[in-house]
Amino acid sequence: MAGVKERFGRPLRLGLVGGGPTSWIGGMHRGAAEFDGWWRCTAGVFSGDPARSRAAGAQLGFDAARSYGTVEEMLAQEAKRSDPIDAIAIMTPNDTHYLYARAALDAGLDVVCDKPVTHDFAQACDLVARTRRGARVFAVAHGYSAYPMVRHAHDLVRNGAIGALRLVQVEYIQSGMAARLEDGPQNNRIRWLLDAERSGQALVMSAIGCHAQHLASFVSGQRIARVTADVGALVPGRTVIDYVSALVALDDGTRGTFTVTQAAAGGENDIRLRIYGAKGMIEWWHREPSYLRLALQGEATQVITRGDPFLPAATLALGRTPRGHPEGLREAFANIYAEVAQERMARALGDAVPDFAYPRIEDGAHTMAFIEACLRSRASGRWEDVARLPLP
Ligand SMILES: NC(=O)c1ccc[n+]([C@@H]2O[C@H](COP(=O)([O-])OP(=O)(O)OC[C@H]3O[C@@H](n4cnc5c(N)ncnc54)[C@H](O)[C@@H]3O)[C@@H](O)[C@H]2O)c1
Repeated sequence: MAGVKERFGRPLRLGLVGGGPTSWIGGMHRGAAEFDGWWRCTAGVFSGDPARSRAAGAQLGFDAARSYGTVEEMLAQEAKRSDPIDAIAIMTPNDTHYLYARAALDAGLDVVCDKPVTHDFAQACDLVARTRRGARVFAVAHGYSAYPMVRHAHDLVRNGAIGALRLVQVEYIQSGMAARLEDGPQNNRIRWLLDAERSGQALVMSAIGCHAQHLASFVSGQRIARVTADVGALVPGRTVIDYVSALVALDDGTRGTFTVTQAAAGGENDIRLRIYGAKGMIEWWHREPSYLRLALQGEATQVITRGDPFLPAATLALGRTPRGHPEGLREAFANIYAEVAQERMARALGDAVPDFAYPRIEDGAHTMAFIEACLRSRASGRWEDVARLPLP
């Protein structure tokens, strides 16, 4: 990919959808997209209310002419410009992701979409088909799998460092819903989260379970084939789902456990993965994201650090500061944006495109199938198969 940015000749132009001034993930997307100079955030729609959207654009420093009132307006007006947006990044409430992603694909734009990609698996399959038909790039904002040490964990598993897989354990624990938000003062965010029509079929899966499943699938290099799940609410009287614990079987039959909740009082954003193979195990957790533990049976445990000189060049390139300097979620998000940009520029230049590891719409579709299988298992009380994409 050497020189691709220079040969392309300009940063890509990104239109944002959502991520107004009060949304923390909006700032994460904007900062990550511009972090390495691959993108410029040039336009946006920042609220479902047109007047608020334009005001929010001004507050965030966007050109007034490109702070639009609706997504339809942005797509139509940008298409008339000599310097139109190349892609959109979607970070709105969950029920709008499918509609905006579909509209962008149909307008010939690439997409970075926050999770969950859609309301259901059928919609996600439709986005896969549209992405492929239009030869678009479609990334999903699973930042955790874009940390350098998670990428290295994936490589270690693929290269057989821990041997044939035996057990995968993934968990994601938070406390944001430990209190009864239902009884407190409501803002827009809490209103849409507590409305299952808007937040999705299973709130905790839309919010964090999708990240845990994707992390496990990415590092193991496998989809989840079957699941039996305990799905419910830890907080008494709650109607939305704040807890899922499941036994899973990967494609090759490897067993796994999966636990996610946002209702663990005292919990801190705590996503953790352990994978055990015939020869040893790896462990990564988000509290110390620059470190990966590798423990081979009978040998001293190794703590591998982002920036260690023996790491492959491609892994080292995913970090930006020297070994020992903290990096975090913004840098991980920036890795996704950098890969999407390189793929788009390389395609435009007719270069060969490497198999970048950023999460794709196919991964988002697998997540939707997993969520639906968990819900089927709750209803049946049995193991359920996770649906596969109808396309290869
Ligand atoms: N990838 C991650 O790690 C991560 C983390 C947090 C949130 N998210 C995702 O980001 C999305 C937003 O979550 P949030 O916590 O920021 O919610 P939020 O309610 O705090 O913010 C939503 C933003 O979207 C704007 N908005 C609402 N409807 C809109 C519309 N129709 N058009 C344009 N803008 C609109 C709102 O004005 C607001 O600025 C969700 O899909 C959530 O799952 C992802």
